[in-house]
Amino acid sequence: MASSSRSYEVVVFGATGFTGKYTCEHIVSNLPTDLKWAVAGRSAEKLQQLVKELQSAYPDRLAPEVETASLDKSSLKKLAAKTKVLISTVGPYHLYGEAAVAACAESGTHYLDVTGESPWVLDMIKKYDSTAKSNNAIIIPQIGVESAPADLLSWSIVTHARRTLSAGIAELIFSVYDMKAAPSGGTFATAIGIFDAYPISKITEASKPWSLSAIPSPPQATASTTPLVQKLLGVRTVRDLGTLTTSLQGGADATIVHRSWSLFDSGKFYGSKFKFSPYVHVRNVFTGILVHVALAVGVLFLLLPPVRWLAKRLVFQPGQGPSRDASRNDRVEYRALATVDSEADPRDPKRITGRLAWQGSMYQLTGVFLAEAAVTLARDDEFAAKQVGGGFLTPATLGAPFLERLQKAGLKVDVRVMP
Ligand SMILES: NC(=O)c1ccc[n+]([C@@H]2O[C@H](COP(=O)([O-])OP(=O)(O)OC[C@H]3O[C@@H](n4cnc5c(N)ncnc54)[C@H](OP(=O)(O)O)[C@@H]3O)[C@@H](O)[C@H]2O)c1
Repeated sequence: MASSSRSYEVVVFGATGFTGKYTCEHIVSNLPTDLKWAVAGRSAEKLQQLVKELQSAYPDRLAPEVETASLDKSSLKKLAAKTKVLISTVGPYHLYGEAAVAACAESGTHYLDVTGESPWVLDMIKKYDSTAKSNNAIIIPQIGVESAPADLLSWSIVTHARRTLSAGIAELIFSVYDMKAAPSGGTFATAIGIFDAYPISKITEASKPWSLSAIPSPPQATASTTPLVQKLLGVRTVRDLGTLTTSLQGGADATIVHRSWSLFDSGKFYGSKFKFSPYVHVRNVFTGILVHVALAVGVLFLLLPPVRWLAKRLVFQPGQGPSRDASRNDRVEYRALATVDSEADPRDPKRITGRLAWQGSMYQLTGVFLAEAAVTLARDDEFAAKQVGGGFLTPATLGAPFLERLQKAGLKVDVRVMP
């Protein structure tokens, strides 16, 4: 990348949106004051208004530059050529996201987004992975609440197992232990719009746990070991994690974690038996069954166009979301339990626990992920993504420098071998 000739280190495209604003706030409140950055979007007037708000909240900071850009590729190529890293918060991505990915892949610009739309990610990898690789553009989709926590906690556990026990991981059970949050209009529009945009066969194909893996899945991954009762009722009880059930975002998280599995030494670093199993924690078996059934019925209803039409009118509209006051006590805590792939003692394998927690709005957390990943890409060098050089990578490939920055910003991460 001819980075020295670029005007900016970071550009936030979609800065005027709900997530874009949180991202800009984190940049002005936490990132180095000498960062060269710009806000970008389709409306110069809205962008100027945003700059005014940022300046009045943080009067000591230099104001960001303003760049207007439309969704056509030539406009986005001009924008991408001006920066080392482009953050895109313009969604739904399956409607508006492709031109930014193409522009970055062709211009050798690193790219970050917060989609959770697996069918779209699958299409983008097929279309632009080799272009991005040949131009050394690091493209990291899904670096929001979907799927950075799952990917980073899994990577932290695997790294801990390698460092302390010289072993990989067999199964990593991941659970959303506690979450208080409400979705924005943009998130609703995206989740519902998926069913307008793709046939159910494509959604099913892209939601398979290994759909985004860069290499074929390990043989045991295709052999289903899930008991029939769990398949039907969705509930599993795990010592030290409690009662678990089907997770709404588990499918999207699994595709990214398994892509990370494939990117680190072709699966050898995570382990040849590695498998990521995502759930949500519930109080008891009855609640677990209810959640599992409600999710299945919800998806069936969303297949019906009139239900989608009605749902779009009943929720927040794009640009809106939960107020700062309403989000004040939001929080999330993830817990994971991993079984070490132990050749020395296969009948009594060691176990590793992990916890990742955040106090505050999920959209603020998404902005933190985006901003800290951008500065990692712009200024740091010692992590896997830079060694790979380019292509469609994952949050975990930003490694320790990214995690350290996140911890300074308030993310709690704790990993230990169980006694
Ligand atoms: N998975 C996760 O963890 C996660 C978390 C947060 C957000 N998200 C995703 O991020 C996306 C954004 O969410 P949000 O709530 O921030 O949405 P939003 O408030 O509606 O913001 C969308 C942004 O895109 C811009 N935009 C829309 N259409 C455009 C067009 N045709 N040309 C140029 N810009 C356009 C908007 O510009 P204007 O202001 O000019 O309208 C706005 O800046 C959604 O897809 C959502 O699902 C995912």
